[in-house]
Amino acid sequence: MATVEIKNDKKEVTIPDGSLLAELDGKCSILFACKVGSCGSCKCKVTKGMENLEQPNDIEKAGLSAFGNDPSERLPCVAKIKKGKVTLEY
Ligand code: FES
Repeated sequence: MATVEIKNDKKEVTIPDGSLLAELDGKCSILFACKVGSCGSCKCKVTKGMENLEQPNDIEKAGLSAFGNDPSERLPCVAKIKKGKVTLEY
């Protein structure tokens, strides 16, 4: 199991290794609207553990490019965690 810390909520959520961070929907205050990488509502800064996320796929790259292209940011609705711990802040 992998762990995602959501700084804004001061909590940690455990999700299966290899799963989309969309698993966090309903378990934290991150707003998941479209869940397909096109609205930017879920955009978060990864403050720790970026190495524990899969590289962005083409859909996420397109979304990130549209929403500022900050290399420390990811779209949790389409980003996958490999294992370990990731810390998010929005
Ligand atoms: S929920 Fe719309 S980009 Fe993630």
